[in-house]
Amino acid sequence: MHFAVLAGDGIGPELIAQALKVFSAAAKKYRLNIGYTEALVGGAAYDKYGTPLPKETLELCERCDAILFGSVGGPKWENLPPDIQPERGGLLPLRKHFSLYANLRPIKLYPPLAASSPIKESIAASNVDFIFFRELTGGLYFSVPKQISDDRKSAVDTLRYTAKEVEAIAELAFEAARSRRRILTSIDKANVLMTSILWRETVASLHERKYSDINLTHMYVDNASMQIIKNPSQFDVILVENTFGDILSDEAAALSGSLGLSPSASLNKKKFGLYEPIGGSAPDIAGQMIANPIAQILCLALMFRHSFNLPEVAQNIEKAVEKALASGVRTKDIYTGSQGETLVNTAKMGSTIVDNL
Ligand code: IPM
Ligand code: MN
Repeated sequence: MHFAVLAGDGIGPELIAQALKVFSAAAKKYRLNIGYTEALVGGAAYDKYGTPLPKETLELCERCDAILFGSVGGPKWENLPPDIQPERGGLLPLRKHFSLYANLRPIKLYPPLAASSPIKESIAASNVDFIFFRELTGGLYFSVPKQISDDRKSAVDTLRYTAKEVEAIAELAFEAARSRRRILTSIDKANVLMTSILWRETVASLHERKYSDINLTHMYVDNASMQIIKNPSQFDVILVENTFGDILSDEAAALSGSLGLSPSASLNKKKFGLYEPIGGSAPDIAGQMIANPIAQILCLALMFRHSFNLPEVAQNIEKAVEKALASGVRTKDIYTGSQGETLVNTAKMGSTIVDNL
């Protein structure tokens, strides 16, 4: 087995370096026969090749079983034409090319970090542990027509879904709910959008046919955005379309105390996956070695679980992260100055997690 490492821009490379330290330690400990190859993507690739997704990079990914992805984008490339911007020309084509329709985003509030969470400690102390199943290759992001008029006076994006696309992601979400608390919340805007009516009907019918053991609730997206703040422990599995999922998952990730804690997995039918942190490239703090590498390291755990089918390795990496947090080491984003906390940089957080493995 082999994976591609695409560190990208901003804090991407410094976080990837920590994840690779953990990978090497795990590979040694478990005698894994897994290798990796690094390649350029995003702004870094544009600077060298004039494109955010060079042919070399795509061909490497095609030969691999997974992609460990850092992050792309930054002010330096913001004014490029849309199609060669790092996000739109680097990340989105990768998602589409490999049909990565299922975006898994686990959200967890670690008890030692309750004080870093922006929500009240009484709510933070409840069991906040849920996972998004976000549809990733359809909806507003990819449907056509998608254009802006030459006179720049009008523009259109298209929101289209087929029942087949909805069913594919719903199926995975229901399956996940079965191995968790059996609660599934399906998000839509069925009081306004036709695609949401289709979404709701498709999910309800699948539920009736195959998953009636799961406790299914349909929730409007505006209400969901409020519920995530007011009562996050009600959620177990959240099923959601592309755009709503983008927005809600940032909101939910912030609950845990920092955007630097949440990983994600984007999977296709063959379990080929692209693993990237939810937070972005954070150009404002890049190069300072203060960013939190935990999300990137948890991406590695997700890769072991979903693409390499090594759940025990995944679990041990997750445990090593929890142990580091319990021992009080904190990068700046989650440091509160309370007794028992030690402020550390990116590399030290990485090596603490390695030591705990
Ligand atoms: C994410 C990101 C991407 C998205 C951007 C970078 C295209 O915000 O993974 O959530 O909107 O999907
Ligand atoms: Mn996003």
